[in-house]
Amino acid sequence: SVTCLGQSALTSPHSGLSQMEMTRFTSPAVPASSIITAVQQQDYSASVWLRRKEKLEHSQQKCIVIFALVCCFAVLMALIFSAVDIWGEDEETEEECSSNCSIVLVENIPADMWFSDDSAFHLPLSTGLNSLLDKARVDVEIVSPVWLLNSIGLFQGRALLSRLQGLKDKGIQLKISTGDFDSAELKTLADNHDAEVHEVNMTALTKGFLKSSFWVVDRKHFYIGSASMDWRSLTTVMKELGVVVYDCKPLALDLHKIFSLYWGLQHKTFIPTFWSKRLFPFFSKEKPGSLLVNQTKVETYISSSPHVFITKDRSSDLEAISAVIQQARHFIYISTIDYLPLLLDMQRYWSRIDGLLREALILRKVHIRLLISCWEETHPLTFNFIWSLKSLCMEQANCSLEAVSKFFKVQRDNDLSGMNHNRFMVTDRAVYIGNLDWVGKEFNYNAGAGLVISHPENVAERNSTVVEQLQAVFKRDWFSRYANTIQTNKIPVCSKQQINKSDNNVALPRQCF
Ligand SMILES: *[C@@H]1O[C@H](CO)[C@@H](O)[C@H](O)[C@H]1NC(C)=O
Ligand SMILES: *[C@@H]1O[C@H](CO)[C@@H](O)[C@H](O)[C@H]1NC(C)=O
Ligand SMILES: *[C@@H]1O[C@H](CO)[C@@H](O)[C@H](O)[C@H]1NC(C)=O
Ligand SMILES: *[C@@H]1O[C@H](CO)[C@@H](O)[C@H](O)[C@H]1NC(C)=O
Ligand SMILES: *[C@@H]1O[C@H](CO)[C@@H](O)[C@H](O)[C@H]1NC(C)=O
Repeated sequence: SVTCLGQSALTSPHSGLSQMEMTRFTSPAVPASSIITAVQQQDYSASVWLRRKEKLEHSQQKCIVIFALVCCFAVLMALIFSAVDIWGEDEETEEECSSNCSIVLVENIPADMWFSDDSAFHLPLSTGLNSLLDKARVDVEIVSPVWLLNSIGLFQGRALLSRLQGLKDKGIQLKISTGDFDSAELKTLADNHDAEVHEVNMTALTKGFLKSSFWVVDRKHFYIGSASMDWRSLTTVMKELGVVVYDCKPLALDLHKIFSLYWGLQHKTFIPTFWSKRLFPFFSKEKPGSLLVNQTKVETYISSSPHVFITKDRSSDLEAISAVIQQARHFIYISTIDYLPLLLDMQRYWSRIDGLLREALILRKVHIRLLISCWEETHPLTFNFIWSLKSLCMEQANCSLEAVSKFFKVQRDNDLSGMNHNRFMVTDRAVYIGNLDWVGKEFNYNAGAGLVISHPENVAERNSTVVEQLQAVFKRDWFSRYANTIQTNKIPVCSKQQINKSDNNVALPRQCF
């Protein structure tokens, strides 16, 4: 209140002045006019008194407003500090250009799938993940939609699980974020092997799922890709692709910040109004990190989904995909399980990616190849949308959309065998490797992360990089025997159920079509 009174004195400097005027009025003593003057004076002083009272009331009101504002601010601060956990130690700041990152493509190729001898092959996924564990000194952070390493007991899965179980004895902390509340494997890891497991209730937060799949080791090395902690992704069942990046602190920190966000959402049933500053990334679409990766200068950042998990300065997966599509000059190769520009639950067309592809095809004459999987869950409308893209190119010079659907082989015991699980896009300039399928509801509700690496615009001469390597991987798959061009006006048969529905032929198809 002291400051408030001081303020009222400050804001009404005229009260002092009018007192001086009053003394000037009273000094002349002319009888006739003195009464009038006295009345005027009384009148005047009354009005002055009134004005002062008004001012006082005014400043009291101000006082109340200021007090209310202070209260609001205090509540706001309380909200900020309660809504977002502040995590322990300070993160180091970026050491952009001095870093010396190296990147390795990792793949898992199904056993009975073979390619010509001169095809590109890369480090097996399980070797890549084990190499990350070899490098671990302090902590290993893992987020995976599935934990099924031990299920049938095939060697690679069990070996990886036992290495994770052994981390504690080496003094390495294992931290796991999960959306799966019922995993027996995680229970064992937490109860018997001192793993810290934080559960994120995605149902309560976004009505979606935690589909993110990445590792961060010592905030320095990381893995990101299509494979989750599923024995089928490590052995010869599913076709997976990802990258392992070593000695890349700035980028690993940005991915660690996404992990920290999940970590902090444990037990939360609502999205915090504010995110801690510690979760803000260094790099984004607008401000990509200029890093040396395998001695080649690239621009790179990490993206994330869904929109409600996006902190300040973080680019969303959709923004990342859009940017990569828009920057492509000559071609765009896309490999994803499903392509469906629909919000299924809301029955609405979802144009975000589809629209950009149309623009690239027609207006920029970019050549597009779309590689999708033909499997049990393939929505029949997928093909209508692909035909629609194809027909856009009719009678147009240099307009080309090719679509191919592959990697589905019906087997007696395991329908997912041989399935192409890859989720990436590669263009003439950039790669995007993500966790989500290209279906509207995925980006709106599910949590995922992505990595963008692109070549700076004006660098002509370049060495073989991850962009060129991924182009080669895509072409290897595209031209392999497992490719089947999607023909117009003929819905391919992707599952046994569809076959059984369409006719009573008991013979299973050897391939998709
Ligand atoms: C980067 O790594 C390469 C190979 O590992 C090494 O030869 C080079 O000296 C490193 N450069 C820096 C700046 O650490
Ligand atoms: C997750 O949140 C939903 C909705 O708030 C709730 O019904 C459900 O029980 C929660 N799940 C767990 C495992 O707590
Ligand atoms: C198509 O591409 C060729 C070769 O790149 C070019 O010469 C031609 O002008 C293009 N046509 C149109 C209509 O853009
Ligand atoms: C290609 O690699 C060599 C050494 O491996 C390096 O000297 C050269 O600068 C690299 N070129 C580019 C464009 O990065
Ligand atoms: C980057 O360097 C590592 C180690 O030198 C090598 O194994 C890997 O194949 C390289 N990656 C690319 C994309 O050239």
